[in-house]
Amino acid sequence: MKVAVLAGDGIGPEVTHQAVAILRTIADLGGYEFHFASALIGGAAIREAGSPLPAETLDLALDSDAVLLGAVGGNEWNALPPDRRPEAGLLQLRQALGGYANLRPSIAYPSLADNSPLRAGVTAGTDILFVRELLGGLYFGEPRAWDKSADAAWNTMRYTRGEVQRVARVAFELARKRRKKVTSVDKANVLEVSQLWRDAVTQVGKDFPDVTLEHQYVDACAMHIMNTPRNFDVVVTENLFGDILSDEAAVITGSLGMLPSATIGGAVNLYEPVHGSAPDIAGTGKANPLGAILTAAMLLRHTAGLEQDAQAVETAVNRVLEQGYRTADLIRGSRTGQQAVTTREMGELLHGAVNEMIDRRNAMHAV
Ligand code: NAD
Ligand code: IPM
Ligand code: MN
Repeated sequence: MKVAVLAGDGIGPEVTHQAVAILRTIADLGGYEFHFASALIGGAAIREAGSPLPAETLDLALDSDAVLLGAVGGNEWNALPPDRRPEAGLLQLRQALGGYANLRPSIAYPSLADNSPLRAGVTAGTDILFVRELLGGLYFGEPRAWDKSADAAWNTMRYTRGEVQRVARVAFELARKRRKKVTSVDKANVLEVSQLWRDAVTQVGKDFPDVTLEHQYVDACAMHIMNTPRNFDVVVTENLFGDILSDEAAVITGSLGMLPSATIGGAVNLYEPVHGSAPDIAGTGKANPLGAILTAAMLLRHTAGLEQDAQAVETAVNRVLEQGYRTADLIRGSRTGQQAVTTREMGELLHGAVNEMIDRRNAMHAV
């Protein structure tokens, strides 16, 4: 498997380094051949090559089996217009790879129950899978502009029925393998584009009579996610709503640094943690690498087809958290036995736990 590693800016390189180390461990233990090649993206690419997505980076990505991305962006590029910012490089990459279904799981780990700002009784048992549409809506709709002379600006939220149907289909298929419920989120009480969205999702739902479909308005959904997160299984929604709701759902886990994502449906799958470049903590060793490491687990599952190894990584994350190890973002609440660790130390703990788990698995097979 060829993996393009685009570490990006801020904490991107710090957390990606740990994720790649875990993939190398998995490859060594399983005897798999993983090849990693790095390239520039985002602010780092603007600095070195004058563009947030240089041609060499795009070529490498398109020639890979998977792309593992850290994060892009930072304060020094904030004054640039949208089409020249680091974030534009990421959006161009998403479009070129073609993946339209961005899977963002949000899970309440029992070991982190006391670290969420929400009460353990509210979060216990929560396991939500957001399916965020990634190639449409306000992010890509035309026309878009800031007309300085008119002192006015506009963006366009646009979807075709086909764009809604294909992402809805992914959501229903995934729900079938889970608790068989899809919540479609829109703003159909105000927006025509949401009325089309609701109609198209309902139509796809007819092909999945075994899956329960409910619709929620995005404002109410934002509240229900905090109030009764256990009621959600798969949540399918348009690009911007999915961006916002998935960050909100990080509160269930306890930190944005815990959330992974995988984007499927295109020529090459794209794997990136949900969080950004976190300029406020970059270079301090405070970044939580578990979102990036769980992203590597999604890569093992969705591209390499190594379900057992994906689960080994996820179980190792659980184990290390159960042992009380916490990066700074997770230390909260009165739980005793919490031990602060740096990004690198957390990566090394994971390395040890993965080794141990796979050793045990191999020993069981040998019996
Ligand atoms: P952010 O996600 O970078 O950070 C939000 C908050 O969460 C910060 O307080 C940060 O310290 C914390 N945080 C994030 N990841 C963490 C981790 N792994 N461990 C510990 N704490 C973590 O969002 P922001 O500050 O709004 O944006 C910063 C930059 O990142 C912007 O330029 C933005 O456009 C960009 N961004 C990029 C991506 C991406 O590349 N996929 C995603 C989101 C934001
Ligand atoms: C995310 C990020 C990106 C998005 C930005 C950096 C373009 O916030 O992946 O959630 O809005 O999609
Ligand atoms: Mn986001």
